[in-house]
Amino acid sequence: MHISKHSVFDLYSAAIVGITGLAITFVLFFVSGCDAREVVEIERPFFEAPPEEALGFLGYDDEDEKLTVCGNCHVGQQSAWAGTGHADAWESLQASGHAQAFCENCHTVGPNGNQSTEPSGWASTQDSRYHDVQCESCHGLGEVHVANPDIDGSHPQASLAVGDLSDLANATGCAECHQGAHHPFAEEWAQSGHASVVSFAAAREECAGCHRGQGVLAAWRVTDSYVEKDAEEHLAITCGVCHDPHSGANEGQLRRPISTSSVEQHLCASCHNRRTAPDPNSSHGLSPHSPQTALLLGDAGWFPPDVEIDQGEILPTHGSASNAKLCATCHVNSFTVTDDATGDFVFNATGHLFTAAPCVNEQGIPTQSECGITAVERSFAGCTDAGCHSSEENAALALSNTSTRIQERADALIELLEMVDPGLEEAGGEIDAADPTFTAAEGAFFNYNLATFGNDTRGASAHNPYLTEALLVASISTVIDTYNIVPSVTGHTREYWNTELDRILSKNR
Ligand code: HEC
Ligand code: HEC
Ligand code: HEC
Ligand code: HEC
Ligand code: HEC
Ligand code: HEC
Ligand code: HEC
Ligand code: HEC
Repeated sequence: MHISKHSVFDLYSAAIVGITGLAITFVLFFVSGCDAREVVEIERPFFEAPPEEALGFLGYDDEDEKLTVCGNCHVGQQSAWAGTGHADAWESLQASGHAQAFCENCHTVGPNGNQSTEPSGWASTQDSRYHDVQCESCHGLGEVHVANPDIDGSHPQASLAVGDLSDLANATGCAECHQGAHHPFAEEWAQSGHASVVSFAAAREECAGCHRGQGVLAAWRVTDSYVEKDAEEHLAITCGVCHDPHSGANEGQLRRPISTSSVEQHLCASCHNRRTAPDPNSSHGLSPHSPQTALLLGDAGWFPPDVEIDQGEILPTHGSASNAKLCATCHVNSFTVTDDATGDFVFNATGHLFTAAPCVNEQGIPTQSECGITAVERSFAGCTDAGCHSSEENAALALSNTSTRIQERADALIELLEMVDPGLEEAGGEIDAADPTFTAAEGAFFNYNLATFGNDTRGASAHNPYLTEALLVASISTVIDTYNIVPSVTGHTREYWNTELDRILSKNR
């Protein structure tokens, strides 16, 4: 008998004892605890033969119980899946009051989401055993596997790839259903940073845990098999990297929660938290690398030793308990775009550009482009929907004012640093990442890079305006003192910077 290692509630071992056509009698063993082994014996034909026109899809064994044929053996996936929206897809389609034939292929088992291309499953039979988005929607035809589950190579593995989305007709996997004006997850995701792969980073083991889909899942200890698991090809951060295909245990069916301030657990923090302070031992040590989480929570940057600000001391406004979803509040916000004149539906923005306050086109649809910081050119719905800012205009004004002020501080600091080391990060001089001696100018330069990360001050201004400003002002004072710079250069006296720092700190201590 074949015994395989699986997680607690998963199938432990299945032995096929008899096959009569498609009526299979079998015995199941599975563990419900480390030692307590439960043995379930089923000696009945466990599903009816599917119609021939289904072309190999099996669908439900018992629709009323939402028991899939696959779920007879894969009990862990069955019970998790039954708690997801996929298990109710048919019901919500009918309840919408708008159900039409063309809606059905995305709300049933058939060719969408898997390798099958012919009309099959629901599409060819209209048999209710194919209602809902079931196992085979993602895994593909189960007939051959179920007849011989032990034969390696017959296992219907699911794919985590989404196809080349420059033409949505080529979409595969999740993207084959999650597209269109009502739920354009695929279209938006394809324009986001998560859809692109930095191949030199994906190819290196130390980087793959954040930069390669397969590497991320390995780092997160997802050992399950899928088509691309051992492939050469680099998977991007696709849908199934962030989302759990089977389990609705976390909100949004995510693999890791977003409503937590725990850096260890938060989905976005798992990757967006690398070099958040200068690293004298790295040749890139003066450039922040995805510093957003630490900045948001008040821990990023170089804290000049002679200045009285401590790590974690400045209260973060946006990284606080009143912003329950942290990153996702601002970066993954969905809203409906309607026609100004008629009020008719135009587009459901899904937040899957992952851009906070995204620029919008004339219709109000979010795009990845450059634009000014106004509530006309951008959507600030993420700032108001959660109840934090009273209006989109106010939020725009706050971001615009703060990023301008921080830009001025950053300009003042870089002007001083250019006096200390005209070549800045070029080899030699006070600022030289390759030289392991750490200088005050280097710490200050890191803070400058942190404030202007992403080529502008908008990100740092939103992530932690008080800390960013305090670090810039403290860096200015420190550089003036350390290198005996005549303060009039920046148009302000040394005392001015002290007062500024006191003002920022007293507001936020
Ligand atoms: C009669 C019991 C049975 C049924 C029904 C069944 N499977 Fe399996 N499945 C197995 C066994 C046994 C294995 C092999 C486990 C192993 O080798 O670790 C397996 C393996 C798999 C694997 C691969 C796991 C791996 O480690 O590579 C996938 C994916 C899978 N099944 C999906 C399905 C899907 C989808 C269905 C429904 C179409 C289904 N199974 C129906 C018994 C079953
Ligand atoms: C065959 C089409 C189809 C495929 C393939 C598919 N989905 Fe879905 N998905 C749906 C439909 C339809 C719903 C809406 C179900 C409902 O709310 O009734 C849905 C809902 C969801 C939801 C929201 C659940 C909720 O509780 O509101 C998530 C998240 C999701 N899908 C993620 C995925 C991911 C990730 C994949 C790929 C691994 C995927 N889907 C593959 C059709 C599909
Ligand atoms: C291209 C595939 C596709 C087609 C075609 C499709 N849907 Fe869906 N439907 C989805 C997906 C994916 C979701 C899940 C979206 C989400 O969670 O935001 C969904 C969700 C839904 C929901 C649940 C929405 C909610 O907010 O919970 C309803 C109701 C629905 N669809 C009705 C329809 C109707 C009516 C039609 C035809 C007029 C239709 N669908 C056609 C893929 C499709
Ligand atoms: C929305 C798409 C989707 C649906 C629906 C789905 N799966 Fe999966 N399944 C996947 C993906 C993707 C993987 C690989 C990654 C993972 O498991 O997280 C997977 C992995 C598996 C595995 C491999 C486990 C292993 O040990 O390697 C089994 C078995 C499985 N699914 C069975 C099922 C069964 C049974 C159902 C229905 C009750 C189901 N799946 C529904 C997408 C799906
Ligand atoms: C970087 C991580 C990430 C990636 C990649 C990603 N998502 Fe999401 N997704 C999220 C987050 C975060 C939410 C918001 C959940 C919430 O607010 O409850 C979400 C929400 C959703 C929802 C709505 C869930 C609900 O409960 O209403 C669906 C459906 C969905 N995503 C589908 C997809 C699809 C399809 C793809 C690929 C085209 C994808 N996602 C890629 C992180 C991701
Ligand atoms: C699995 C790791 C991973 C997770 C989880 C993740 N990201 Fe990312 N993110 C990346 C990588 C890697 C890039 C850069 C990709 C590139 O440029 O090639 C990126 C890019 C981005 C960008 C674009 C940055 C830019 O400068 O254009 C934003 C915004 C973003 N992520 C936000 C989020 C949010 C919000 C979440 C949580 C919902 C999240 N990410 C979850 C890895 C991740
Ligand atoms: C802890 C997760 C993590 C690790 C490990 C990691 N990165 Fe990143 N990296 C990110 C995230 C997240 C982004 C995108 C967000 C940003 O720009 O702040 C990013 C951005 C990048 C970018 C800029 C991409 C662009 O499109 O502008 C490059 C290049 C890069 N990383 C290279 C590497 C290399 C090389 C390694 C290994 C030596 C590595 N990364 C290790 C998380 C990580
Ligand atoms: C209060 C809203 C808000 C929160 C919370 C937030 N961001 Fe941002 N984020 C922004 C804004 C605004 C920008 C600048 C957008 C632009 O330039 O168009 C930004 C920019 C970014 C960028 C681009 C590079 C950069 O650093 O400027 C990344 C990546 C990013 N955020 C990731 C995250 C992650 C990860 C989290 C959670 C740890 C997070 N953000 C929390 C609003 C927010």
